[in-house]
Amino acid sequence: MRPTDTAAFAALAGDPVLAIERAEFDRARRLISELAGIQLSPHKRQMVHNRLSRRLRAHGMASFGAYLDLVERDPREREAFVNALTTNLTAFFREPHHFELLAALAAEHGRAQRRPLRVWCSACSTGEEAWSIAMTLREAGCAAEVLASDIDTDALETAAGGVYPAERAAALSAARRRQHLLRGVGANEGWVTVRPELRPMVRFAQLNLQSAEWPPMEPFDVVFCRNVVIYFDREAQRRLLERFTRVLRAGGLLIVGHAESFPATHPAFRACGRTAYRFEPAS
Ligand SMILES: C[S@@+](CC[C@H](N)C(=O)[O-])C[C@H]1O[C@@H](n2cnc3c(N)ncnc32)[C@H](O)[C@@H]1O
Repeated sequence: MRPTDTAAFAALAGDPVLAIERAEFDRARRLISELAGIQLSPHKRQMVHNRLSRRLRAHGMASFGAYLDLVERDPREREAFVNALTTNLTAFFREPHHFELLAALAAEHGRAQRRPLRVWCSACSTGEEAWSIAMTLREAGCAAEVLASDIDTDALETAAGGVYPAERAAALSAARRRQHLLRGVGANEGWVTVRPELRPMVRFAQLNLQSAEWPPMEPFDVVFCRNVVIYFDREAQRRLLERFTRVLRAGGLLIVGHAESFPATHPAFRACGRTAYRFEPAS
């Protein structure tokens, strides 16, 4: 007999007991959109099934509907739900041209300004991007304050820990690894950690880019917002861009991901290099 739709989904996940019904999947999509602004495509049913199954197992639950009820009434589970559905793909010095731009800006800033350069890494995931920013600024000898934030509290814990499997840092030059990382020995063999000199440069905090209120912030010289707005709809992207105009200094840079061009839609942002935009408000 031909399997039913949901039976086929459960079999794919190697779990014959649990299946996510279409209505439950749609409810999960609505919830993650409300909580994080993340728009999940209708093709992500299998992914949602796999990621939420772990949460169901953690609670010994046998239905996605019951689990989503829990998400709606329990703020702690809401956090775990968001953490489960975020995609955290990142790497040290990902899209290296942005770090070359930052190095040039840091050198110029060091010559012209006495105050620290302020950088916001606004979707820092597990921290590789934030530490790459700190490494770049340290190499430039530029006093700096980096705020690194993300909605995902699990990813932030890894980020703040600054400890990574050594292969994640393998693409860094040997000189960079020596200058910025410590190699694990004994029980920590196979791991690296960021050097203590980098740690005071970066402050980690949870921040939902889509929340109604952001905490008060001093203006930034540079905002990294890379590979996150791809998950937001057009209106959310527009609102976010408007909010960035309120936290960027005039002349500051907004740096976005390789597949993103949303700042080009705003008259106050002028393209200056690959997926980098200078904030030039009308005076
Ligand atoms: C694909 S990663 C990109 C990481 C890094 N910026 C990079 O380009 O390598 C996307 C990150 O955006 C975060 N994110 C998703 N929605 C968010 C929101 N509403 N507010 C803040 N961060 C969010 C996710 O938790 C995830 O860590």
